[in-house]
Amino acid sequence: MRVLSVAGARPQFVKLAPVDQALRHQGHEHVIVHTGQHYDPLLSQSFFEDLAIPAPAVNLGVGSRSHAAQTAGIVLGLEPVLDEYTPDWVLVYGDTNSALAGALAASLRGYPLAHVEAGLRCFDRRMAEERNRVLIDHASDLLFAPTATAVRNLQREGLRPRAALVGDVMVATLAATRERVAAAPDRYLPAVLRTRPFLLATVHRAETTDDPRRLAATLSALASCALPVKLLAHPRLADRARALSLPLAAGALETSEPLAYQSMIAAMLAARGLITDSGGLQKEALMLGVVCTTLRARTEWPETLHGGWNVLVPEPRDLAAAVARPRPAGDPPQPFGDTGAARRIVAALAGRARAEPTAVRGSA
Ligand code: UD1
Repeated sequence: MRVLSVAGARPQFVKLAPVDQALRHQGHEHVIVHTGQHYDPLLSQSFFEDLAIPAPAVNLGVGSRSHAAQTAGIVLGLEPVLDEYTPDWVLVYGDTNSALAGALAASLRGYPLAHVEAGLRCFDRRMAEERNRVLIDHASDLLFAPTATAVRNLQREGLRPRAALVGDVMVATLAATRERVAAAPDRYLPAVLRTRPFLLATVHRAETTDDPRRLAATLSALASCALPVKLLAHPRLADRARALSLPLAAGALETSEPLAYQSMIAAMLAARGLITDSGGLQKEALMLGVVCTTLRARTEWPETLHGGWNVLVPEPRDLAAAVARPRPAGDPPQPFGDTGAARRIVAALAGRARAEPTAVRGSA
C-alpha cells in the first residue's frame, strides 16, 4: 500500500510521526509531502529531527499568505504530486489550511482520502480551524476519530458510517517523548526556564493575536499573574505585538522563542501550569498532569475540562484568578486512548486499500 501524507504545520508533524512509524513497520510505502505552511526551523525542521520523521519527498514551499491563497497554492502544488505518486490513500491531519488543501486536492483528483483527528468540533464557526474540520470531514472517505465525543459529532452530521474510533495518535508521540525527557530533563529544558516556579504560556490563534484590543488585554493579563509567566512567542504573535508596540516583557511576563517538541514537553513538565489558546496543548497538558487555563470560550477537546484540569477563560481579566486555582486532587483522567492509534489507522487503511471507489481523473 502506498500512503501519501500531506502536512505543513507544527502540530501535524506530531500526529504524522507515529503513523509514519506504523506504516514503515508494516512494510507500506509512505510519501510525505510538506506544504511549507510552516517554514521557520523551530516550527518545522526541529519537529522532523526530534520525532525522527524522514525528510519529505516533496516540499511545496507555500509559505505564509491569506487563508485562500495559502490553501489554493497547496491544492495547485499537490495536483501533479498526487498524479505522480498515485497513492492508495491520501492522509491529512487535524484542522490547518494544509489539511484542508490536502483534502480538497485528493477529493478533486479522486484519490481516497482519510482524516486523522476527525470529528472534533468547538462549535464556533468563526474560527478558520472549525470551518476546516467540517469541510475536511465531509470530503473524507475514512474518518479516524480520537474520542467517543468526536464519533458523536460525526454521527450528528450523518458521517458515522465512515468513522472509526481509533484513539488519539498524539498519545504515542507524547509517551515516547515523555520517557526520553524524564530520563534527562536538564538536557531538554532551556536555560531560560530553569528558574522555578513559573507558568508556561503560548498565544498564537488569530482570534487573539489579530484583534488589537484583545491582544493588549491578554498580554496585560499575563503580566499581572502572581507567578512569572514564560511566554513562548509564535512568530505571528511577535509580529503583531511589534506592530502595535505592545511590550512582550512587563510585570510577570517574559518572552522567548517557540520550543522544539522535546523541549516543550520538558517545559510543560517543569511548569506550575500552562496558559494557552492552542488546541493540542490542552490535550498534552492533561496527559502530562499539568493544570491548563485556556484563553478561549470553547474547546474542541471537552474531555480536558473534567475535574477542572483545564478551565476556559474567555475574558483575559479573569486569567489571574483562574491560574491561581488549586491543582485538582488525584491523577488526571486519560480519555485519549492507548498508544495503538497509529497501528489501528494503518490496519484500517490496509483493509480498505483499493476497495474505495475512485473517481475518473479527467483533466477538465
Ligand atoms: C496554523 C494553524 C493553527 C495551528 C498552528 C500551529 C491554520 C488556519 N492554522 O496557524 O490551527 O494551531 O498553525 O502553529 O492553518 N509564520 C512565520 N513562520 C512560519 C509560519 C508562520 O513567521 O514558519 C507567521 C507568518 O507571519 C504568518 C503567521 O505566522 O502569516 C501565521 O501563520 P499561518 O501558517 O497562517 O498559521 P498559524 O498561525 O501558524
